[in-house]
Parts: sequence; C-alpha cells; structure tokens
Amino acid sequence: MATTTTTAADVAVEQQQQELKKGIAEFYDESSLTWENIWGEHMHHGFYDNDVVDVQLSDHRSAQIRMVEQALAFANVHDDSEKKPKSIVDVGCGIGGSSRYLAKKYGAECCGITLSPVQAERAQALADAQGLGDKVSFQVADALNQPFPDGKFNLVWSMESGEHMPDKLKFVSELVRVAAPGATIIIVTWCHRDLSPDEKSLRPEEEKILNKICSSFYLPAWCSAADYVKLLESLSLQDIKSADWSGNVAPFWPAVIKTALSWKGITSLLRSGNANFYILIWRDSNNNIRVLIRSYSCLKFIRMEDHKRGNGNAIDD
Ligand SMILES: C[S@@+](CC[C@H](N)C(=O)[O-])C[C@H]1O[C@@H](n2cnc3c(N)ncnc32)[C@H](O)[C@@H]1O
Repeated sequence: MATTTTTAADVAVEQQQQELKKGIAEFYDESSLTWENIWGEHMHHGFYDNDVVDVQLSDHRSAQIRMVEQALAFANVHDDSEKKPKSIVDVGCGIGGSSRYLAKKYGAECCGITLSPVQAERAQALADAQGLGDKVSFQVADALNQPFPDGKFNLVWSMESGEHMPDKLKFVSELVRVAAPGATIIIVTWCHRDLSPDEKSLRPEEEKILNKICSSFYLPAWCSAADYVKLLESLSLQDIKSADWSGNVAPFWPAVIKTALSWKGITSLLRSGNANFYILIWRDSNNNIRVLIRSYSCLKFIRMEDHKRGNGNAIDD
C-alpha cells in the first residue's frame, strides 16, 4: 500500500499558509468597513472604456457593476431562463456585493465564502436587509478547501480573490471540483505581465514593487495570465479565454482616492511622482497606522473564463 510521508518542508509550507490565512482574515476584519465607506458593497475595481479621460467621482460605484457585467458578457453567461445559472458560488466574497447582484439578476441561489468573519456577518446582514436572506448565504471557509460537494454550482465566480491564493493549482482545482458539468468558471484577478520566451523572471525593479504590494495586502507570489491558462488547460477545461483589462481598470484608483480624501477616516494620502503609484494611509479602530500601496506600473489586471467539460448542459453555447 502506498504511504505518504510528511516532510519538514511540507510542514513549513503548511505553517506559512496558515499564517497567510490568519493575516488575510485580520486584514479584512479590520479594513472592510473602511472599504465599504469608500467603495460601497463591491470590493473590486471598476471597469472603464479604454478611451475614458475624465472619470466622474460618482462613477466608480457604477464602474464596479460594469466590471461584473463585463465579466459575465465575456464569459457569455446567459440571461434566458433555460440556461441562466441557478446555483452560484462566490469564492472570496468580501461583503457579498457580487453574490447579491448575481442572485438578484438570475434569481439564483448563491453561497459566498470568505476568510473574514466580519465580512461574512456583514454580507449576511446586507442580504437580509435587501430581502435576499433566503437566496444568499455566507460562511467563513477556505477557497483551497471548499465546504461544498463536487459539481454543485453552475456558475463559479472569483472576483479579485485569486491573488490571495498561495497555491494556484489547488485554488483552480477547487473551482473546477465544485463546478457542475458544463458550468462556467469566471476568475477576475491580478496577475503580473506574461514573460517573454527569453525571460525566466520579472525584472528586479518589478519584483521590488510587487513585493511591496504583497506585504501590504497579504498576497503570496504572483503569477501571469499565461500561467493561469496553463493550469486550466492541465485540468482539461474547454473554451479557455483570457484578456488583459489593465487599461480598463486604471482610472479606478484616481476616482476612489478623490472620494477617499473627503472621508473622515483617512488621515493622509500621499501620491508619488509616478502617476500610477499611490500610498493610502489611515488609522484603524485600534489607532494603528495602516498603509496600503497600489501601483499599476508593472501590474497586469486580467480576467479569464473557461468551461468545465460538460454533458451538453453548458450555460454557454
Ligand atoms: C479584494 S476582496 C474581493 C471581495 C469580493 N470578491 C468583491 O469583489 O467584492 C478579496 C476577498 O478574498 C477573500 N479570500 C482571500 N483568500 C481566501 C481564501 N483562501 N479563502 C476564502 N476567501 C479568501 C478575502 O477574505 C476577501 O473577502
């Protein structure tokens, strides 16, 4: 009989992942109210047309809805009653903005999971207040070990949570496991740029910026969109598509920061000489100074969708 042995390296990786999860949970427990005040119910970027020049302050919340709609359109998720999704999982759900939007749009049941108890509670309170308590439910659970049976969902949704996952293969494998035959899987996430064939890694200055972002946001190592596509191909998914939406999200932060400036909790905001580099500083409820850094100078913001090999019941044609 085959036996598996646990090595010291396995134990170290497991320990690192546990620490990361704890950090993510605490980060969102502490900062979600701040983000809700600034961003509203959706904790993800807005989507803008490439030729937009002057983003109105009031537009960033509708741009977040546009992001959801763009992702659904890119993946050809149907609105018609026969094919629309009936059962949805929102992996890394934040305070449930996508879950409630999708449940309302499709009349579907939606289960959201997050590492943050504060987010799960807030998400449920908002759902109850909006009369969606019977359709939408939230729980604290790990995306890498989802508490759902195989093949439960016909739309698997991950909006800006993949960047937190320390094991991308396990992350994607779990998305595929809980997807029903013919389901659509949508991943919108932060990636670094694709490497050219003669490159083995990013340039040192790019690594340096990414490391800063990683330590501010509890992010593990980054990968590229091409890396994701390879992983999805290795799991025999069909119709894999990916696109680079970096240009479409770039106007988001200037708009948010202008709004944030008028918000009481922000004690100071610094903008560096580089037009695409922001540092946001505020005090949390314990009066600790928290610092967030955002940069687009070497980031690629990508979205992708793919389909589990199905039995003819695909949501998509
Ligand atoms: C930037 S927020 C995005 C929230 C939401 N998708 C939205 O668009 O409003 C990232 C979310 O990913 C969740 N997350 C990160 N790692 C996770 C993990 N291993 N399992 C479950 N959720 C995770 C966080 O708890 C947080 O809710």
